[in-house]
Amino acid sequence: MSAMELTDAKDVTLPSATTTAVAQAAADAATAVSGRTGALSVRNVEASYSGVAAVRVTNLDMAPRKITAIIGPSGCGKTTLIRTLNRMHEVTPGARVTGRVELDGHDLYGTNVDRVRVRRLIGMVFQRPNPFPTMSIFENVAAGVRLGGIKKTEPLADTVERSLRHAALWDEVKDRLKKRATSLSGGQQQRLCIARALAVDPRVLLMDEPCSALDPIATARIEDLMSRLKDDVTIVIVTHNMQQASRVSDSTAFFLMSDDGAGYLVEAGPTQQIFSAPRERLTEDYVSGRFG
Ligand SMILES: Nc1ncnc2c1ncn2[C@@H]1O[C@H](COP(=O)(O)OP(=O)(O)OP(=O)(O)O)[C@@H](O)[C@H]1O
Ligand SMILES: [Mg+2]
Repeated sequence: MSAMELTDAKDVTLPSATTTAVAQAAADAATAVSGRTGALSVRNVEASYSGVAAVRVTNLDMAPRKITAIIGPSGCGKTTLIRTLNRMHEVTPGARVTGRVELDGHDLYGTNVDRVRVRRLIGMVFQRPNPFPTMSIFENVAAGVRLGGIKKTEPLADTVERSLRHAALWDEVKDRLKKRATSLSGGQQQRLCIARALAVDPRVLLMDEPCSALDPIATARIEDLMSRLKDDVTIVIVTHNMQQASRVSDSTAFFLMSDDGAGYLVEAGPTQQIFSAPRERLTEDYVSGRFG
């Protein structure tokens, strides 16, 4: 990834254009060789509300183009954690983050990093579908592009169609693009929100319990979609549904609340291992439904 993708070019004072360009070329070459893009790393992160820690993570890596599930009981900081990954946490008044979150090796909390660009690279889908209610289906997806401040490289209609196809919704809506987004079913609205997030070509998609308001059929469609999307984007999904975590994810991270009320990572690893042979007794109890 180019560091410039994260920074607002006009605000950046480069120490030496040449050194930076050389370092950047090396970084780009390394990315090209390894093909690793969309890797997220959390290092010594603590997120708090009004001085009270909500979650702490020493080390957590989310592999590129894979699905990482975040599981754990209510209140252990799952939502807070994923909101630190695209710098949404700090928007809450009194909320603070310390530590590093790296996307392909670049610290998202570094100086000169533009938060708007971070959110373009790391999109988010919420528990309840939240399309813009007064806008049409078309405009909802187009809004992703407009709000993302994307330079247009193709006609907007093409971007909208591509995003809706990518979100497996095109066939259901192609004849009603001018209808309000709220005329869609819950599952369709959630796929519309995914299309809106995909329209700006993100590296990572964060999903916070994306199926909890959906019926099993709509849930299955979103799960299918996730499996297809991971060819293009890294996915981090928070879920309370253990079957869902074990069905869709490649890796799982299990959180609990510590005595001081802040969430912490108990263990993370390949999903199959976490569910069949976890290292920690606490994990085994949780995934087998013995508590939580
Ligand atoms: N806006 C806020 N202001 C103050 N405290 C908050 C805020 N949002 C969350 N918290 C607190 O942070 C802690 C973690 O909450 P968070 O929503 O991240 O948990 P969660 O694991 O996502 O829970 P759930 O599974 O119920 O969604 C909780 O103690 C919660 O009360
Ligand atoms: Mg939550």
